[in-house]
Amino acid sequence: MTELLKADTAGISRAADLLRQGKLVAFGTETVYGLGALASSDTAVARIFAAKGRPRFNPLINHLPDAESAFAQADLSGRTGEMARALAEKFWPGPLTLVMPRGENATVSDLAAAGLPTLALRVPRGKTALALLREVGAPVAAPSANRSGTVSPSDAFHVLRSLEGRIDAILDSGPCSVGVESTVLDLTRETPVLLRPGGVTLEELTALCGTIHHPDDFAEILPSSPGRLASHYAPSLPVRLDATSIEGNEAQLAFGKPLPGAALTWNLSESSNLEEAAARLFAGLRFLDAEGARRGLTRIAAQTVPRQGLGLAIRDRLRRAAEPRPPSDPS
Ligand code: TXA
Ligand code: MG
Repeated sequence: MTELLKADTAGISRAADLLRQGKLVAFGTETVYGLGALASSDTAVARIFAAKGRPRFNPLINHLPDAESAFAQADLSGRTGEMARALAEKFWPGPLTLVMPRGENATVSDLAAAGLPTLALRVPRGKTALALLREVGAPVAAPSANRSGTVSPSDAFHVLRSLEGRIDAILDSGPCSVGVESTVLDLTRETPVLLRPGGVTLEELTALCGTIHHPDDFAEILPSSPGRLASHYAPSLPVRLDATSIEGNEAQLAFGKPLPGAALTWNLSESSNLEEAAARLFAGLRFLDAEGARRGLTRIAAQTVPRQGLGLAIRDRLRRAAEPRPPSDPS
């Protein structure tokens, strides 16, 4: 049984109690819904992987209510610490995850960190998420609350459809405002590395940190970050990128002026606004997938989204959605 909890005082308390007991609770953040478990408990964290059907024990993001409690988990020495403090000051609470060396007093379990000597830390912006984290009083590990490899959930209904019966509760705080996951920035190297583009833009980060490397520049020397697995965020219909016309029986994911001739269209943003497009991305993929399949359409044609601001994160998710996936994909 999956309890559906309202984001009021009673609902938040119930969710916090369940988490403290080692149960799985999905909760809304400003980016996407997270599937939360007590990060200090290997058993609780193992349940996340089981519920998601995640193929490997990938490291998870640890959520905390403020920079102070987040940094208590990390080693803040040297330039990493300086940069982390400046970034936290500017972007927390918000859609930025910092990968830092694990601190001596860290309580995050080895499983949540996948045995790495580093930790991913994030202070989300959602009011309900912050209230929940404060009440739990310990780091909460939370990947996106969907079956592994499928489109991330941007409202509680998406979570329910994907995970009902597999998790203990969902704390419903309404739709997510940003709509794509947090930006993951690795601070453990000389130069910060953008492991995943997301809600905080590369331009904003560069303004504060100077040079930032992108792993695509030197993929072979970086440890693989599972968020970078090829097929991910995948709807069941194939996706064709950078469409400039509609071919045959396609549904359309439009950005700005739609292409003529599609039987079904979801417009990310008629006014070509990237914030709006990010917030509507996952819901759009779900809609085109379900409704397109129902109408016998065979593919989703996606128009080009510019490579700037939140466009980088949107393009990244679309590229993954378009990636061919193995036929044995469990999800
Ligand atoms: O917006 C978000 O970040 C959402 C919400 C729920 O907060 N969470 C999320 O978590 O997207 P998840 O597990 O789907 O993504 C975790 C990302 C992966 O790309 C993973 O490789 C990276 O963070 N990551 C976590 N720990 C890491 C570490 N120690 N080193 C490098 N990458 C790490
Ligand atoms: Mg995910």
